[in-house]
Amino acid sequence: MTTASTSVAAAGQANTDPLSLIDVDHVRFYVGNAKQAAFFYAHTFGFQIEQYQDLTTGSRDEASYLLTQGNIRMLLTTGLTPEHPAQKEVGLYGDGVKDVALTVFDAEKAYKRAIANGGESAYEPITTSDEHGSVTRAGIKTYGRAIHSFVSRTGDYGLPNLKTKPFEQAFMPGFAMMSKDLGVNDYNRQHPCGLKFVDHCVGNVEEGKMNYWVKWYEDVLEFKMFKHFDDADISTEYSALMSKVMASGNHLIKMPINEPAEGKKKSQIQEYLEWHNMAPGVQHLALRTDDELHSVAELRRRGVDFLSLPDTYYDIVWDRVNKTLTEHGHEAVREDHDRVKELGILVDADDEGYLLQLFTKPLQDRPTLFFEIISRRGSQSFGKGNFKALFEALELEQERRGNL
Ligand code: FE2
Repeated sequence: MTTASTSVAAAGQANTDPLSLIDVDHVRFYVGNAKQAAFFYAHTFGFQIEQYQDLTTGSRDEASYLLTQGNIRMLLTTGLTPEHPAQKEVGLYGDGVKDVALTVFDAEKAYKRAIANGGESAYEPITTSDEHGSVTRAGIKTYGRAIHSFVSRTGDYGLPNLKTKPFEQAFMPGFAMMSKDLGVNDYNRQHPCGLKFVDHCVGNVEEGKMNYWVKWYEDVLEFKMFKHFDDADISTEYSALMSKVMASGNHLIKMPINEPAEGKKKSQIQEYLEWHNMAPGVQHLALRTDDELHSVAELRRRGVDFLSLPDTYYDIVWDRVNKTLTEHGHEAVREDHDRVKELGILVDADDEGYLLQLFTKPLQDRPTLFFEIISRRGSQSFGKGNFKALFEALELEQERRGNL
């Protein structure tokens, strides 16, 4: 099993290939009010609010907050002027993900390679540096409003330092540390939610465009197809979608791509697009935990709103899952079955093992971005066996929103 701690080491030995992607460096959200969003994600999901830049640090056109948990880094950015792109995009799309930034050995080389591969520039390489080291970034456009930044780091700004010494040095030049006695950070250290790293990051694209973006990830970022699902896998009577999972060469970065499929009623992907100004974008971030029961219990206690499934889901799930596990010589699901049901967690199994997963409701007022909380016991899949039950639950939510 790949873990966050082995990922850097594995990539470190790798090579000098410019597109050898080391990690998800950070995920940048454009939000209407970064200061308030920071406290929402800290209180509900247990993130540490670590660093910031705003007018008081000399940042005149944007304010950003860096939130971390395990190896997850989220950057929440608000524009401070009407011209700032974050202001415009929040108007069009609401709060959501702008940038899935990838750590590389040399951001400029990675950027040039991606451009040579047919990628379109989002922004040219820029390096910021001070006496502690430097950070170089360059961005390419991916689907819709989303971009991928390449980020390379030197000196104290190196990613291994960020992981092992949070709070001891800045994320990049220009950021300042939050006060060390911020109460919510203290509380989160005492009551951890246990989220470790970004397991995968899913994009929604327009109908008929999935294969275009699959090829884009193959050509531009040199990804390979990891798994695919068609509408026979992912459909209910009314709504459907198709999905292909793209992965970086070392499988450390997984980017599934969804498109809506024909159904009697509106696909959840179509609903997303309609509330996202018809622009493709990031649908969900799956955050990995080693202990699904603990994480979900803690998140529920904090008020995270999860999708709920009918109780009947649990009438058949154990037979289905444990049968698959036995067939492939794996131990049965070891988590307490009653507790799994109580917490409303979903279970699925394949030839490699099983996984536990649960999906939040939308994280903002629009039915766009949500989180998945996932833990894996061998399975490297995405919960295909849950799609039907899940989509029926999603349709109920769509109906409540008047969007079915
Ligand atoms: Fe997922």
